[in-house]
Amino acid sequence: MSAEAPRAVVVAISGASGAVYATRTLAALLERGCHVELIVTEFGRRLLRDELGDAAAVERLADYLAERYGEGTRKGRYTLHSNRDLGAKIASGSQDCGAMVVVPCSMKTLAGIAHGLSRTLVERAADVMLKEKRRLVIVPREAPMSLPQLRNMVLCAEAGAMILPAMPAFYQKPKTLDDLADFMAGKILSALGFDQTLYPKWAG
Ligand SMILES: Cc1cc2nc3c(=O)[nH]c(=O)nc-3n(C[C@H](O)[C@H](O)[C@H](O)COP(=O)(O)O)c2cc1C
Repeated sequence: MSAEAPRAVVVAISGASGAVYATRTLAALLERGCHVELIVTEFGRRLLRDELGDAAAVERLADYLAERYGEGTRKGRYTLHSNRDLGAKIASGSQDCGAMVVVPCSMKTLAGIAHGLSRTLVERAADVMLKEKRRLVIVPREAPMSLPQLRNMVLCAEAGAMILPAMPAFYQKPKTLDDLADFMAGKILSALGFDQTLYPKWAG
């Protein structure tokens, strides 16, 4: 872990394709002993089950992560928040999470963050990160993208968020879907301020 890496991180999972990016990121943070404040939108819950199966349902996530990525994931802890709970501690600037990632980020959640709507806990927690000038990493996934969607990404970037599209690279010669997920999770960890070894750095 780098010297300035946050100990507590907000992870939001919304209803865009790429649930494996979220579980790999979550597992990597927990392996590092982080405390994760977890929010899963209604469609994020559906995505976990649709893409990863019933074993990955939110209620069973800790066991799923341990089985899929190893018992080391039990080093950290997560607190699951309702997306409707606008009174949760992460809805306030006084909370101590130094960073947040929305992975994957749907175009709907992106729009809500871009326009500062704060209708849900995901939107409000992201707004807190922006107003407090903390790290906010947004991992959008859609193809193709409309002009409003592109503009919403620009709005978020202008407000200080990092836009890290769910676009795995191929120069590390991936052989499996897990290799692609490792690449994205490694990128996300770096963006959150962690050292990462999930994929090999380009050696030139
Ligand atoms: C199987 C499935 C895949 C989806 N994939 C995407 C996607 O990749 N990107 C996106 O923006 N929306 C996607 N959607 C649509 C969103 O889930 C939908 O707009 C939803 O309202 C988003 O709500 P949320 O942001 O609160 O999770 C998908 C929906 C389903 C059911």
